[in-house]
Amino acid sequence: MHPKLRKAVFPVAGLGSRFLPVTKASPKEMLPIVDKPLIQYAVEEAAAAGITQMIFVTGRNKRAIEDHFDKAHELETELERKRKDALLGMVRSVLPEGAHCIYIRQAEPLGLGHAVLCARPVVGDDAFAVILADDLMDSQPPAMAHMAQVFSREGASLLGVEEVPRDQTQSYGIVTVERPGVDIARIHGIVEKPKPAEAPSTLAVLGRYVLTPRIFELLGELTPGAGGEIQLTDAISQLLSHERVLAVRLPGRRFDCGSKLGYLQATVEYGVRHPEVGRDFARFLKTR
Ligand code: UTP
Repeated sequence: MHPKLRKAVFPVAGLGSRFLPVTKASPKEMLPIVDKPLIQYAVEEAAAAGITQMIFVTGRNKRAIEDHFDKAHELETELERKRKDALLGMVRSVLPEGAHCIYIRQAEPLGLGHAVLCARPVVGDDAFAVILADDLMDSQPPAMAHMAQVFSREGASLLGVEEVPRDQTQSYGIVTVERPGVDIARIHGIVEKPKPAEAPSTLAVLGRYVLTPRIFELLGELTPGAGGEIQLTDAISQLLSHERVLAVRLPGRRFDCGSKLGYLQATVEYGVRHPEVGRDFARFLKTR
C-alpha cells in the first residue's frame, strides 16, 4: 500500500478567454452548472477521493473563489432568521466536512505547468492530485476516487485519459501507451496538441492527474514552451524517463466546460436531472 492522497491542486488562474466577457471579472471555474459552480463539483470530487487539503492556485480574479468557500456569516444569519433550513444546510456544506482550503497566487498566467509549480511550497514531498475544474466528470465512482484507488495500488504518477476523435487532437495532450486498449497502461510518450495528421494516437489527457513530487524539479528546470507558457506536458514528458507514469481510462462521461459547447451540453444534462427543475426543463426541451 502507498500513502493516501491528501492534497489536491486546483489551478484556477487561467485567462478563460474562450468565455469572455463573463470571465473578465470572474474566473471561469465559478461558472455554474445549473446552481453549483464548476469548482465546487471539483472540490466535492476531491473530497470523495479522501482528499482534505484543497490548494487553489488563483490569479487576478481570486476573490470569488475564496468567498465561495468561506463561511458566509451574514447570509447564514439571515437564512436562520427566515427558517430556511434546507438552504442553510446547502450553504454550510459548500466546503465538504473535514476539508480545508489554501490559496496561492500565480502572479501571471504563465501556463498550467507554472501554476502547478506555484503549489510546490504547500505540497512539499507528497504525491498530489491536480484537478482542472473545467473538465466536469460525470461518473460513478467519481473520477478522482477511481484514480486514488489506482494510486494506492501502483504508487505511480497517473494521467486520466479518454479517446477523442482524431480531428480534435489539437486541443489535448496526446499519449502513446505500452498496451493500447487496456484500462491502465504505462505511458511511453506524450505530445502537446499535435495536428490530427501528426498525432501518435487519439488517447487524450483530461484534467485529472496524480503526480509524484519529482514533477516540481522538472517543472523548475523548464523554459517556456508552446505559446510562451510553462507546459505541464513538457515536464510529464521528462518524468517518463525517470519514473513509471500510467494512463488511466476514466469511467463515465466528461464535459469540456472550458468550451461553450461542452458547457451548454453539461447544463442540459445536469438540468434535466435536477431535482427541482429537471422535469419541467425536460418538457421545455421537447416542446421548443
Ligand atoms: P486552459 O488551457 O483551459 O486556459 O487552462 P484558460 O486560460 O483557463 O482558458 P482559455 O483557453 O483562455 O479559454 C487549463 C487550466 O489551467 C489553469 C486554468 O485556470 C484551467 O483550469 N491555468 C492555465 C492556470 O491556472 N494558470 C495558467 O497560467 C494557465
